[in-house]
Amino acid sequence: MSAPLPKELARRRTFAIISHPDAGKTTLTEKLLLFGGAIHLAGAVKAKRAARSSTSDWIAVERERGISVSTSVMNFDYADKALNLLDTPGHNDFSEDTYRTLTAVDSVLMVIDAAKGVEAQTRKLLEVCRLKRTPVITFINKMDLEARDPLELLDEIEKELGMATTPFTWPVGRGSDFKGVYDLREQAFVHYLHAERGHANEREKLTDLDDPRIDALIGRLAATLRDEVDLVQGASEPYDAERFERGQLTPVFFGSAVNNFGVRELLDTFCELAPSPQPRETHTRVVMPEESDFSGFVFKIQANMDPRHRDRMAFMRVCSGQFRRGMKLLHVRTGKPLIVRNAMTFLARDRSIVEEAWPGDIIGIPNHGTIRIADTFTEGEDLAFTALPKFAPELFRRVRLKDPMKVKSLQKGLVQICEEGAAQLFRPSLGSDYVIGALGVLQFEVIESRLKDEYGVDAAFEACPFRICRWVTFDRGTDGSDFDQHWPRDSFLDEFGNLCVLTETRFRADWIAEKTPGCRLTSTMELA
Ligand code: G4P
Repeated sequence: MSAPLPKELARRRTFAIISHPDAGKTTLTEKLLLFGGAIHLAGAVKAKRAARSSTSDWIAVERERGISVSTSVMNFDYADKALNLLDTPGHNDFSEDTYRTLTAVDSVLMVIDAAKGVEAQTRKLLEVCRLKRTPVITFINKMDLEARDPLELLDEIEKELGMATTPFTWPVGRGSDFKGVYDLREQAFVHYLHAERGHANEREKLTDLDDPRIDALIGRLAATLRDEVDLVQGASEPYDAERFERGQLTPVFFGSAVNNFGVRELLDTFCELAPSPQPRETHTRVVMPEESDFSGFVFKIQANMDPRHRDRMAFMRVCSGQFRRGMKLLHVRTGKPLIVRNAMTFLARDRSIVEEAWPGDIIGIPNHGTIRIADTFTEGEDLAFTALPKFAPELFRRVRLKDPMKVKSLQKGLVQICEEGAAQLFRPSLGSDYVIGALGVLQFEVIESRLKDEYGVDAAFEACPFRICRWVTFDRGTDGSDFDQHWPRDSFLDEFGNLCVLTETRFRADWIAEKTPGCRLTSTMELA
């Protein structure tokens, strides 16, 4: 039998909340923070966002659009657990950043809109979870509005997302008749009592389904509840921890985040079921969280979080050992030591200096551009954690500088913003105009606006004919050094100096591959 995990490790839960935009991710996040005691009034996250916007110009586009562009990290305690919640931008255009966040978590909380079911963004994100076999817990939200039949929703999750479902709660009533949930494990009707808006409300649990108080509370819905509980208990798949941990089965909760219905049931069970920090793969071996030596990897870079300091924050997931303030780490890619005295921990946008951190924790390391996405840090061992690959962008724009004197600032801005990983930068082998590649159009606006705000550069993003990006690799023994001379108009270098081709058609990319012996074109690129 293996030794029990150290206490600090066993109590950690590192997870992300994912959803299609508008399903209720922000609302649920806020409720989790509220129940965790990290904030005292729901609405604070949004209110704070608004307050911050008026005093700082941090990502002006976020302010204008009212969408959450960047990924934030929140550490808070709930009961005896230490939760690390990684918020992910729901907007379709930022999915690359979101994908990478999913490499840093041990489980995922998926929010689904009860009226809309499984939506496009959820489907894409779940593909990544499947790739990583991440356990998923599902919250079906907005049961207080017109909702689809719960059984139909479960069926859709099973078919579309390829996971079995085990309901842990069941909605009592729907829409304006939504009265609470039935806890299928505790076999109790959870009736919610009225609460002041924004505050956590009290619950009353009735454990006997035949209790006449249930009839008194919910009238004719009581009979439906009894029938449904009977049906669901008979028909649903039993919970299987192993299948959950492999991402093959998802526990499902119903509720209404805005009304706090079903949220506590979700959170309590989540803390119990979600895995503690898991082993992580490197290119050479698997790193166990209980190993004594420190190791961690960077999954996100964010520039200019504080415009006054022009700093860049590298978000690192601790994978093993213990981080202590002032410790000397090896930056494996550069081979250089780094003494980390000012690592940060976060609660939404508030930061404080980290004294110690454990596997599962996310710490931010301020730096001036030396740290990149997918970099590994250790106490001396030569390790590289495997990252998610970079995906080929699907949309392209040429960057045209309006003031030629600003070439240097433009270069710096583009490189820094693209190194954050939200968009990709391509330098042509012919000509001088940079090309930006992204997965969604909004990203171009974000970059244009950030160039102006943060780097003082006025640049225009013009349409360009490219549709396809492929990275170029060569078989062993093939000399590819003259590739760009053969294909000058198609050859580019990405922000990390990798050779790639940008073409108008897939046909041309295939043709280039065919005409170049020993050459392979791929639509993904390993970061580490
Ligand atoms: P997102 O982060 O996934 O994009 O969604 P968010 O939480 O911002 O929620 C989207 C909208 O849905 C918000 O309304 C929110 O109040 C509402 N909402 C979230 N959960 C529930 C729920 O359980 N029931 C109902 N009826 N509505 C819910 P909004 O009008 O866009 O914003 P707000 O002004 O209400 O904050």
